[in-house]
Amino acid sequence: MLIDSYSRKIDYIRVSVTERCNFRCQYCMPEKPFSWTPRENLLSFEELFKFIKIAIDEGVTKVRITGGEPLLRENLDRFIAMIYNYKPDIDLAMTTNGYLMPKVAQKLKDAGLKRINISLDSLQKEVAWKIAQKDVLNEILNGIKTAQRVGLKVKINSVPMKDINDGEILQILKYGIERNIPVRFIEYMENSFANSSLTGLNSDEILGVIAKEFNFIDEGIEAGSPSHYYRMENGYRFGIIEPHRDDFCTHCNRIRLTAEGYLIPCLYFDEAMSIKDSIKAGDIDGATEILREVVKNKPEKNRWSEVNESGEISQRAFYETGG
Ligand code: 5AD
Ligand code: SF4
Repeated sequence: MLIDSYSRKIDYIRVSVTERCNFRCQYCMPEKPFSWTPRENLLSFEELFKFIKIAIDEGVTKVRITGGEPLLRENLDRFIAMIYNYKPDIDLAMTTNGYLMPKVAQKLKDAGLKRINISLDSLQKEVAWKIAQKDVLNEILNGIKTAQRVGLKVKINSVPMKDINDGEILQILKYGIERNIPVRFIEYMENSFANSSLTGLNSDEILGVIAKEFNFIDEGIEAGSPSHYYRMENGYRFGIIEPHRDDFCTHCNRIRLTAEGYLIPCLYFDEAMSIKDSIKAGDIDGATEILREVVKNKPEKNRWSEVNESGEISQRAFYETGG
């Protein structure tokens, strides 16, 4: 079992299979990076899988495939199948922008994928276009529909931003309620790659909007999830992800692997170690040691709550680490 220095059990790994993306979301990658990691520097599915096996053997029970946009990596279903076949009861999930989902949903489901999270920041064509800097709404909605139809469990992620989509919180929530899809609103996390003019809504502001139309009870932070959940009278649950809250990291159970083989203990921090050389050399013991070391070095908490006081913001790109 992997336990960090603050007694947190680490049983969840997020694996970014590519930093590339077909969207240019204002809060993540508004501009194409100066250069992409050359493809030859990326780990192959076989190499990533070698490390995932180690993580599973060390006690990881949940694997989430992320990006960039993971579906830009060809034949992703092959990778999903490798993980599924190694341990079918792994909680196997993916975070995607949904754009390419209609084409591949069935294949992914057949390969063993269980759950997906799709970003939906607006239900208005023009606003969705402005946020992703591409005309994406129809494809996203189709992606959500197809994923549900093939039997994947779906959640929606949404980042409310002042004067952009903050007037749509209730509409997005109702879209989720009508389809029985949990919506999770994420507080915008400041980072040096995002459009610097953005201001996110905090959890109180988001709840204030929802409270105007719905009654709900606070169910607290869910175990193994970063989300604070609320339940409505009709049983529907929605969540808010509040990285600026001081206790956000208390229950953190995750580490991240980038497509280049960097193992990252926390989204905000930079202490990453590479497992690439060990994996390429077939040195399983070496890679296991690095995994244990990174878990040991996991910081107690992120510093998003200090952002406004210090002005210091995260230099980690979400598109590299998979959010
Ligand atoms: N702040 C909050 N959420 C973000 N995401 C990406 N960048 C940010 C940010 N700066 C979210 C996306 C997607 C998930 C991968 O991470 O909305 O749902
Ligand atoms: Fe792409 Fe997701 Fe980043 Fe948007 S948030 S640019 S969809 S990786």
